[in-house]
This record gives sequence, C-alpha cells and structure tokens, in this order.
Amino acid sequence: VEPDEAWAEEVRALAQRTDAVILAHNYQVPAIQDIADHTGDSLALSRIAAASDASTIVFCGVHFMAETAKILAPDKTVLIPDARAGCSLADSIDGAQLRAWKAEHPGAVVVSYVNTTAEVKAETDICCTSSNAVDVVASIPADQEVLFCPDQFLGAHVKRETGRENLHVWAGECHVHAGINGAELTARAAANPDADLFIHPECGCATSALYLAGEGMVPREKVRILSTGDMVREARATRAKSVLVATEVGMLHQLRKAAPGIDFRAVNDRASCRFMKMITPAALLRSLREGADEVHVDPEIAARARASVRRMIEIGK
Ligand code: 13P
Ligand code: SF4
Repeated sequence: VEPDEAWAEEVRALAQRTDAVILAHNYQVPAIQDIADHTGDSLALSRIAAASDASTIVFCGVHFMAETAKILAPDKTVLIPDARAGCSLADSIDGAQLRAWKAEHPGAVVVSYVNTTAEVKAETDICCTSSNAVDVVASIPADQEVLFCPDQFLGAHVKRETGRENLHVWAGECHVHAGINGAELTARAAANPDADLFIHPECGCATSALYLAGEGMVPREKVRILSTGDMVREARATRAKSVLVATEVGMLHQLRKAAPGIDFRAVNDRASCRFMKMITPAALLRSLREGADEVHVDPEIAARARASVRRMIEIGK
C-alpha cells in the first residue's frame, strides 16, 4: 500500500464513517503523522484522547499509549493498527517486579513513566511523561522516598533536576534511546560547533551533553533536554540555524515541518524504533476497515491505573 492520495482519501472517509479520531505519536512514519488528526508527544496525546468527542480512537503509536487512551476513555473503542507494536522500555518492569520493589521500600511514592503496562500503572501513585517528570517528582514532599521506574536515564535526569537523594531509580532502558551514546554525541557536536543540541532525556547521551557543556565544549544554553513535544515548541522558538537531535528519527519530520529554515540532523540516524514503524499505511487502512486491533484493559486494573494517569494529567503542563 502506497501512502498516496487514494490511500489518504480512503483513510479519511473511513475515519469519518466510523466516527474515529486518528492520533499519531511524533515517532510515526511521515505519512501517518500527516494523515492524523493530532500528532504529539505521549502527554499531549493522552490529554487529547481523554477530551475527544469521537467514539473511536485509532492510536498510531505503541501499545502502552493505546492502553493509556483506553484507561482514560473506557467507554470508547480504542484501536491500534498493529497490537504487536510493543516497547522495550515498558517491558523492562512488570507488575510483580514493581510489587517486590515496593515491598523493599514501604511508604515510598511510586512514580512510573507512562511507558509502562496498565498493570504497572495500577501499582503506581503518579504517572509521568518526559515532559512533566520533573514537575511530578517536585510535587512530592521532599522528605518522602520516591521509587522511579522504569527508565534509568530519565530517572537520572529527574534526580539531577530535583537534587533529590531519596529518589531510587529502576535500571530499565529503551533500546533505541540507550543506543544514542555519549561518544557519538561528542563527535557530532565537535563537527557541528554552531548547532543546538535537542536531547530526549531517555538517551544514553543526556549526561554526556551536560558534561560537554560543563567542559565548555558546547555553550550550556545550547543544550536542551526535551520531550518530543517540547522539541517542536523549541524548534519554533530557537534562533539556531542547525540542531543536532538525539531521539528516535521519526521526530525529524515534525521538527522540519515546524521550522523549515533550520538544518535538523540526527545524532544517530540508525535510532529507529521498530515497534513504532510497525504502524504502516497498510496497517492503518486495515485497522479502519476491520475495526482492529481493539485494545482492552481489565476494568479493575484500568480503574486503579486511571487514578495514577489522572494525577499525572493534573500536574504540571
Ligand atoms: P515523549 O513523546 O513523551 O517524549 O516520549 C518519547 C518516547 O519514547 C515514547 O515512546
Ligand atoms: Fe519504547 Fe523506545 Fe520505542 Fe519509545 S522509542 S516506543 S521507549 S522502544
């Protein structure tokens, strides 16, 4: 299936007929981002899912994102074009592991990144995304122990920003972002001395970026640790002529659309998420035609998970 005008027309017609809203994460392939009603980061898309009037949500992203939409909108039909689109980060902790960790730290507040299964969210006090993780942790009284899972690099970023010693971080990672490493970033930054650096906090190189700034190799104000949605906002605001981008390569499409005059380059152009890329133009068409794959969350787990997701939506931006 080619994402041509006939494809686009059929997708739009089917979406209208089935009263579906199409949401796409910033890491989706360009054709999917362009046909979607809304493109954004995980927090923005959760908010849109919660507020939408449509009776069906077609979530072009990975499974935990579609699950979050279902948790927030249990009466709507939530579809994901390919239910096999998982997430290596969400797979790095399960409900039993989190329960065992909590038992070692009784009374600690559990903050989980939204990149987790519904079962993990049900064991969580407050969810967060990369755009509000610092605000979420800062909202917890300073004397209270915090368990942060599953991403170690985002956890390190939150710990640095909040200066909290009582924050314990789970050792999970996303295989795509962990692979964007400090050596690569250092070489790219040296070769592009005028470029701004947009770094997703899940990256293995986030600490290195601040190290480069600390060593005076890159001016500190040029280093921005940003969620994917904040990267788009920053692209519109910056005066930089070139930007090195450390995140999944799908992001470049939104950035180039937002600021066509800027030269955006990936720090690692092999950083492609195979799960995000399972949502192909053919898969989206099939999803709308067949009303598949439908996402279900056990109602009792969903009710507990909803409380932690709602707290996240209420805090911060
Ligand atoms: P955000 O869109 O929240 O920045 O998350 C990035 C990500 O890795 C999602 O899988
Ligand atoms: Fe998960 Fe990483 Fe893919 Fe994001 S990029 S969906 S965190 S595997």
